[in-house]
Amino acid sequence: MGRGEDMAKIALGVTSSVSIYKACEIVRGFQKGGGDVQVIMTQNAAKLVSPLLFTSLSGHKTIVDLFEDDHPWSVAHVSLAREIGLLVAAPATANIIAKFAWGVADDFLSTFYLTVECPVLVAPAMNEAMYLHPQTQENLARLRARGVEFIDPDKGYLACKDEGWGRLAAPERIVGRGLELLGKTESLKGKTALVTAGPTREFIDPVRFLSNRSSGKMGFEIAREALLRGARVILVSGPVNLVPPARAEFIQVQSAEDMEKAVIKAFPKADIVVMAAAVADFAAAEPSLRKIKKLDLPEALKIVPTPDILKKIAARKKGQMIVGFAAETENLRAHALRKIKEKNLDLIVANDVSEEGLGFDSDFNRALILNGRGQGRPTDKVSKRELSRLIWDRIEESLGKKS
Ligand SMILES: Cc1cc2nc3c(=O)[nH]c(=O)nc-3n(C[C@H](O)[C@H](O)[C@H](O)COP(=O)(O)O)c2cc1C
Repeated sequence: MGRGEDMAKIALGVTSSVSIYKACEIVRGFQKGGGDVQVIMTQNAAKLVSPLLFTSLSGHKTIVDLFEDDHPWSVAHVSLAREIGLLVAAPATANIIAKFAWGVADDFLSTFYLTVECPVLVAPAMNEAMYLHPQTQENLARLRARGVEFIDPDKGYLACKDEGWGRLAAPERIVGRGLELLGKTESLKGKTALVTAGPTREFIDPVRFLSNRSSGKMGFEIAREALLRGARVILVSGPVNLVPPARAEFIQVQSAEDMEKAVIKAFPKADIVVMAAAVADFAAAEPSLRKIKKLDLPEALKIVPTPDILKKIAARKKGQMIVGFAAETENLRAHALRKIKEKNLDLIVANDVSEEGLGFDSDFNRALILNGRGQGRPTDKVSKRELSRLIWDRIEESLGKKS
């Protein structure tokens, strides 16, 4: 692919980190991959390196000042936002990360961040104390929850002469991930993904419920990845402590019955359904309308199975691709194969929840992804972020074979 042809522009935000010298390599890397790069520097970055260097490398006048009046655009941060397919902040200081996280818009780059709708990739660079500071970690988590992608810094020799976390990731890793994001921004365009996440709560009385340990992280990552790939996303979630991705249509539910209603209503609009929620299997047979007093506790709690949402939507299937999840503690493959058949699934993601440090409430997982014919391999132990990419890669592979 020739430079700039068929590929949306990349905006590269360069901030005042000592690793600013590596930003030249990042510009070059994107250009070698066919990208057209517009550099935006912070005022402080422009004190470390002349914007002219980036102007000559990129072929576009480097933007520094929000109030400069000779930009070729009318309101530059708004019109440029429409042109670009990816915003990369590399190197990203603790300061710009904090500004992005809290919506501070006091210079071109931070204002621009609030105007873009494309994927955002951030490569932090700072000394270890700044990186590991709880405030920075909170800011990173906030941005992750908003769907910002990160290339985590490496551990190694830092400019402050310390050895530690915070060294800017290698330019080729940043460029590689950036191009990957850019290449996939359209792959699910025109498709609607219905994703379920989290546990459900089956109330025994107004204050007590039956539930499970699901955190919702997997489903939220799946929703986020679908948005990054250009899909319209309807996310139906049980109660979780997560910020929903900004562009998803978010439907909050409590019980399996609520989830069933929401899923059945959204189902006709969906092309792909990913059922990552851990729907409670049992509900109280006779939930009490008033709080049950300790003295009135029944000897046994009568429970009934909750609705089988997967089975119900499988029966209504009209060309949709349905992806199920299975959380098992033994015989993973056998249970997964049975579930594919029973529920008429196109794909299943099965994980062993007995493995310490994986699955429920963890940021990591290992899964067996099988297609409708039971073919597939287990993944390595990967972050849920990474697993969501692998799952969508498999879904897209199956969609390709279907069409
Ligand atoms: C030589 C030099 C190197 C710096 N390196 C870093 C760095 O690697 N990471 C960081 O977060 N801040 C670093 N700082 C501090 C930032 O420049 C400072 O927080 C600044 O206010 C950030 O502004 P900006 O985010 O608008 O560029 C450095 C400062 C100097 C003077």
